[in-house]
Amino acid sequence: MPFIFGKTAEIHNFTDREEETKRLTQNFYSLVNTMIISPRRWGKSSLVKSVAKSLVNDNKDIKVCLLDIFNIHNETEFYVNFAKNIIKATSTKWEDWAENAKEFLSRLIPKISFSPDNQAEFSFGIELDEIKQNPDDIINLAETIAKKKKIKIIVCIDEFQNIANFEDALAFQQKLRSHWQHHQNVSYCLYGSKRSMLINIFANPSMPFYKFGDIMFLEKIENKVWGKFIQKRFKDTGKKISKKEGEYLASLVANHPYYVQQLAQMSWLRTKVSCSKSIIDASLQTLKNQLSLLFVSLIDNLTTTQINFLKALLDGHTSFGQEILQKYNLGTSANIIRIKESLVSKEVIDITSKNIEIQDPVFQLWLKEEYFSH
Ligand SMILES: Nc1ncnc2c1ncn2[C@@H]1O[C@H](COP(=O)(O)OP(=O)(O)OP(=O)(O)O)[C@@H](O)[C@H]1O
Ligand SMILES: [Mg+2]
Repeated sequence: MPFIFGKTAEIHNFTDREEETKRLTQNFYSLVNTMIISPRRWGKSSLVKSVAKSLVNDNKDIKVCLLDIFNIHNETEFYVNFAKNIIKATSTKWEDWAENAKEFLSRLIPKISFSPDNQAEFSFGIELDEIKQNPDDIINLAETIAKKKKIKIIVCIDEFQNIANFEDALAFQQKLRSHWQHHQNVSYCLYGSKRSMLINIFANPSMPFYKFGDIMFLEKIENKVWGKFIQKRFKDTGKKISKKEGEYLASLVANHPYYVQQLAQMSWLRTKVSCSKSIIDASLQTLKNQLSLLFVSLIDNLTTTQINFLKALLDGHTSFGQEILQKYNLGTSANIIRIKESLVSKEVIDITSKNIEIQDPVFQLWLKEEYFSH
């Protein structure tokens, strides 16, 4: 398949991000901690993986540990996974893992056991509470290994916002930060999919990870770049689309990386030889229909005033004077603050310095063309 969505984009499917790739590579080389923030599905995970891959290919003495904590629900689970992944990322063979685990987790040694059927797995047979009592060894694990092996380690943690849901989240973040900030041979790259939560973790002066490193706000990929990319992917697979049509396709979904790939894929499937505007339009219609059930349930979770607010946004209003409040039945202006907060935390809208936007461009189309159209 020439296009990919729902998985991170790699190699042939990965396009552009030249500036971000340069900046992140530079940060990794110079061990600057990096936090990456963007709205959902704009390509954070893909970017980190792509940079990590080429970095490791080019340098024998740099190891990258990619850790996704989406399924991690508490501090103890975090420590166990963190340790496992760092050991794995810095070891080459299975024997080596066992040795590394023993050497570097000395306090926990007697209780580390290795799964006989899957040699890639090992578990700490330790009272999990014990780890939590004394987590310093684990928090410092990457630095310890890096020093001992004379390597550099980049630890990348995806879905990092999850730590905000742990019990004693603040104390936990303080613990991590107080150790990590002293590491000389390791850099941390932290990112995730909940923009508003991450902004609170990284950009709020009263939070432990404030000024922990370089904050990257990922931009969208430009329309022109998409046009070229789509044309090339069609060509690679023996079909045709003009650059102009490719750009048109991307613009329909506001250049949103995930949707561009999805719509391109649908259009590609419908194309026998040459893709036309009408094929693209029909594909978009199908996409909207496919998602409509999801959107209906999204709407079901909103209050009437929240829906009214979305209507006002769609009509182009971004400031809410008396007249607009009345016209759209939005209540008082104090209400607007609450509505915004709630829609941001539900990930329906994004508020940037310049704008208020509905996050999902296909949801926006659906609202406009289906939901509010009658
Ligand atoms: N550089 C890129 N080139 C081409 N397509 C991309 C690129 N980056 C992302 N995509 C497309 O967008 C989709 C989402 O990317 P990815 O999962 O990396 O985003 P994310 O920001 O990590 O998402 P989430 O917020 O859900 O964690 C990918 O499956 C791919 O289709
Ligand atoms: Mg991601």
